Amino acid sequence: MNAILQVRDLQRHFPIRGAFNRQLGWIRALDGVSFDLIQGEILGLVGESGCGKSTLGKTIMGIHRPDAGAIHFEGINIAGLEPRAHRSVRRHLQYAYQDPGASLDPRWKIGRSLHEPLIIHTNLSTAEREVRVREILRAVGLPEGHLDLYPHEISGGQQRRVGLARILTLQPRVVILDEPTSGLDVSVQATVLTLFRELRAAFNLTYMLISHDLAVVRMMCQRVAVMYLGKIVEIGPTADIFERPRHPYTQSLLAAIPQIGGKRITRDFWLKGEPPDPGKLPSGCRFRTRCPRAEALCAETEPELRLIGAQHAACHFAELDSLRSA
Ligand SMILES: Nc1ncnc2c1ncn2[C@@H]1O[C@H](COP(=O)(O)OP(=O)(O)OP(=O)(O)O)[C@@H](O)[C@H]1O
Ligand SMILES: [Mg+2]
Repeated sequence: MNAILQVRDLQRHFPIRGAFNRQLGWIRALDGVSFDLIQGEILGLVGESGCGKSTLGKTIMGIHRPDAGAIHFEGINIAGLEPRAHRSVRRHLQYAYQDPGASLDPRWKIGRSLHEPLIIHTNLSTAEREVRVREILRAVGLPEGHLDLYPHEISGGQQRRVGLARILTLQPRVVILDEPTSGLDVSVQATVLTLFRELRAAFNLTYMLISHDLAVVRMMCQRVAVMYLGKIVEIGPTADIFERPRHPYTQSLLAAIPQIGGKRITRDFWLKGEPPDPGKLPSGCRFRTRCPRAEALCAETEPELRLIGAQHAACHFAELDSLRSA
């Protein structure tokens, strides 16, 4: 399997500030994240709000500078590249914002928003740009008349399509989709998801798909990564993660959707309480304060990702669990 992107031990910390801008500590939004993105796949990224999903996407994109770690894209370590050097690589990596409205300038007509990235990143003439813009607009299923409209004159689903068109004009290799269906009603969601699939085939794209919606992830992704407080705690093929989750955190996430196709997919325990303060991580395993299976070892030693079954999970007792369920 050919990795288009290799992320290694990526760290990104944000200062916690109190009164008078005094620094009180650090949030370890990314606390050592490692994974490969395989050429052509859709990798799902799931986890509770605040676990670092968007930060991971933005750090890969160079919107945030990593504090440590490596991001290899086609053999080049792009982590910490100077903004100017990063720009030529960035064209090939694109991030679709969680809020599509926010990526469009409300004062600009859609046409101008679509020309802008091409003006910045390419030397195409106006006529060449116009051809590319119209071609992409057709690919995302919007009528040409929309080029003369303002963002507020089109629907949320159409804004999503424009956001995507904007990215695709640059002919990226990897697209990070951050919550691409949130705020859309179910029928629009379905057409947008179909569109993502068609565009992936047409433009030979690789996606990382960040979503709260486990049903969307299950339907769209070949593999899934589960994040908890700045770390990947489980990663593997979608079918294995959904049918035999190994990490207790994944098990409890999935227990929140107990019935799929009428079949109960996990033992039913629910997450206890809120995640701990991300500025004060527990010792050892970061999930242990909410884990029904935690033992003394979990407070002492942080579990590393290990191959268990078809997936990798970071739990001292995941093997015991697989023996039990076998
Ligand atoms: N620019 C920033 N400055 C300070 N803290 C930040 C910043 N961006 C994110 N954080 C913090 O980093 C942590 C991870 O945030 P992030 O936005 O990556 O979460 P998320 O998993 O995308 O959540 P959601 O599902 O709600 O979108 C949170 O504790 C958040 O408050
Ligand atoms: Mg987010």
